[in-house]
Amino acid sequence: MTEKDIDETTGVETTGHEWDGIKELNNPLPRWWLIIFYVTVAWSVVYWILMPAWPGITGYTKGLRNHSERANVAEQIAALDAERAEATRRLIAAPSLQAIEDDPELLQFAMAAGGSLFGDNCATCHGAGGQGFPGYPNLNDDSWVWGGSLEDIKTTITVGRRSDHPETTLTIMQAFGRDQVLSRDEVSAVTDYVLSLSGQPHDEAAAASAAPLYVTHCTACHAADGTGDRTQGAPNLTDAIWLYGGDRATIYDTIWNGRASVMPAWDGRLSEAEIIALSVYVHALGGGE
Ligand code: HEC
Ligand code: HEC
Repeated sequence: MTEKDIDETTGVETTGHEWDGIKELNNPLPRWWLIIFYVTVAWSVVYWILMPAWPGITGYTKGLRNHSERANVAEQIAALDAERAEATRRLIAAPSLQAIEDDPELLQFAMAAGGSLFGDNCATCHGAGGQGFPGYPNLNDDSWVWGGSLEDIKTTITVGRRSDHPETTLTIMQAFGRDQVLSRDEVSAVTDYVLSLSGQPHDEAAAASAAPLYVTHCTACHAADGTGDRTQGAPNLTDAIWLYGGDRATIYDTIWNGRASVMPAWDGRLSEAEIIALSVYVHALGGGE
């Protein structure tokens, strides 16, 4: 090697590299940088000894701690499954649905399971919060077509209404106009009668003239006073809550064309425990009886 080449301006030794008259100075690395560098090297060795690190042909170096994220997750899932299996068993074994609501721990489990099942299976028709849409009942209020007790709700979910389940209920709202049971004028007058039942503005004379028609054609399902019949799924016509709508045009349409909405049966599609969890969840939405 030739003697050291010292840069005149800075007095620092050069590396001997030169490009178009520009020389590279041989400055030492800063001390703090070197210390951090050696620490990271030491850390990597420690890490390699303790943790999984080097890939091999058939596997990898496991490290002294034998750590595995995958095994941890599998363990957590197994623990969760065991916990769920126990809660599921207790849901089915509960002497009554009421007993589930009275047990804070079971109730919490049923609400969590029911909430996610509701989102997956029911929200499309009943809305994310169970608020309903025209023809799809609101499950938050205390007006029930088929009944709002835990048992009623469970029956509705299990066998459905007008569904394909052999034990479902089949009563429908007949198409009185289309099927020519009532004339146009009669349907119009009965509409006034229904408006009068819920205290809405109506034609007094028309409503009075339709009273006998109501007794003949409607009382069997909606009751003489219009409060409905849950065993037949005939809605209460006296309150302000409507399944399809309480304005004149919608009521006329209901009586003229009839209605037969379908609540699907979940028996066979959801497990017993899932139906129980859903019943408790729907009951707790706010309107449970
Ligand atoms: C395809 C649409 C649809 C889906 C999905 C559906 N429902 Fe329904 N549900 C209905 C309709 C329509 C009715 C009203 C039936 C009637 O008018 O008689 C109803 C009625 C009900 C009732 C009775 C309400 C009352 O006032 O008595 C309950 C409770 C209920 N559904 C719960 C559920 C639950 C829980 C799920 C999810 C497992 C669900 N529904 C999924 C359409 C649906
Ligand atoms: C066989 C039983 C039955 C008879 C008879 C019957 N209904 Fe209904 N009615 C129902 C059922 C069931 C429903 C709900 C249908 C559904 O949910 O799809 C209903 C729904 C209605 C609704 C809609 C209520 C709402 O909340 O939107 C009105 C209005 C109504 N009926 C009026 C009448 C009138 C008026 C008569 C007589 C001319 C009559 N019904 C006769 C069973 C009956």
